[in-house]
Parts: sequence; C-alpha cells; structure tokens
Amino acid sequence: MQGLSREAVRRVYRFYAPVYDFVFGLLLDSGRAALARAIDPAAQRVLEVGVGTGLALKRYPALAQVVGVDLSEEMLLRALPRARRLRGARAVDLVCADAEHLPFPDASFDAITLPYVLSVTPNPQALLRELRRVCRPGGQILILNHFRGAQGMGGLERLLARFAHRVGFDSQLDMDSTLGGHDWTREQVRPVNLFGLSRLVLLRNA
Ligand SMILES: C[S@@+](CC[C@H](N)C(=O)[O-])C[C@H]1O[C@@H](n2cnc3c(N)ncnc32)[C@H](O)[C@@H]1O
Repeated sequence: MQGLSREAVRRVYRFYAPVYDFVFGLLLDSGRAALARAIDPAAQRVLEVGVGTGLALKRYPALAQVVGVDLSEEMLLRALPRARRLRGARAVDLVCADAEHLPFPDASFDAITLPYVLSVTPNPQALLRELRRVCRPGGQILILNHFRGAQGMGGLERLLARFAHRVGFDSQLDMDSTLGGHDWTREQVRPVNLFGLSRLVLLRNA
C-alpha cells in the first residue's frame, strides 16, 4: 500500500497479533481452505508469504516442505507453536523477513501462496516481482485478496474504504492493473469468503 512503511506494517501487526485469530481466523478461513486445495498436490517446496499467526499451515500438502515468511515478529511468535505441532506431519520453517527482498535463491519454490497480504504490503509490485523470482518457472503463485469491484458489494466497499487506510489496508486495489504486466498466466479467478468479498487468483509463473 502506497505510503505504508515496513515499520508501519510491523506496528499494525504488533497491535493485531493478540486478537488476530479471534477477529480474522474463522471469518477468512474458507478462503484459506480454497487456496490450499488449489495447490498442485505434487508441490514439494511451498512458500507462504505473510504467514502471520500460521492459520493456513495445517492445510498445505502433507508431503510439502513449507516455509512461512513474515515481517512481524509478534505474528510469527504465534505461528511458532502451530508449526511445532505440525512437525510430525510436515516440515515447516518460519523466517522473519521482508517478502519484497526474500533471502532465497531464484526458483526455490514450486508453489507460493499470498493469503491476504497484497493490500497490506508497502510495495505490491516489488513483492510480486520478488515472488516471480523465487518461484520456479512453471510453478504456481496463488493470491488470496480483496480487490475492488466485488459483485454487488458497492455499499460495503464504500464503507470499508472510509476506515481501511487507517488500519493500513488498501481496499481499492484493482486486480487487472495490479496483476497485469508480469510474465505469468492467469489460470483461474474466483470469489471466496462471505459475500464473495475476497478473490482467489491462480497464476502460473512463465
Ligand atoms: C492480514 S495478515 C495475513 C496473515 C495470514 N496470511 C492469514 O491468512 O491470516 C498480513 C500479514 O502479512 C505480513 N506482511 C505484510 N507485508 C509483508 C512483507 N513485505 N513481507 C512479509 N510479511 C508481510 C504482515 O506482517 C501480516 O502478518
């Protein structure tokens, strides 16, 4: 989101961390489930960007090695016990890092997920470029986000827009201009969550 610094993101999620699961856990969970179901079952190396408190971790393919990255230490601290509980079932590593400058070599991952992050990151275009770099050619990039223009949601969107900026959330992100201009194929877009307020976008890295 333009004008939002990394420090502001950390500050916002330091505040949200203790209540995040309560407020956004169940509310946004059907979107997380749809995203996890859309991952290629054969994907072995999965990166979740903006892993937060780790709500999606249990849903990833059982044989995958999962890496979760987040800017906020307070959110990651809450993801840690979830990751530990899963260790028997799948390998999970958590890394505190800025996803606009990832500490991984090119083509490190088969699938990259981005649940509810694009509207709250300082520079979405820098983030998308970085995801393409660490995703292998032909790998999947799965984006779950609110984009403006959800069908029949004009009133709710206007309401959201009035306070969203104050909590570091860009409710006006336009899907075509945000996702256009990158060398990937858009394989599927579908509405998810209550009232179809979020969209799940499946991309195939060129
Ligand atoms: C709305 S939460 C989503 C958390 C989780 N993915 C979920 O499904 O609930 C957004 C998360 O993205 C993280 N984030 C935002 N920009 C980031 C960046 N550039 N690098 C890493 N994490 C970022 C925030 O710290 C926060 O934990």
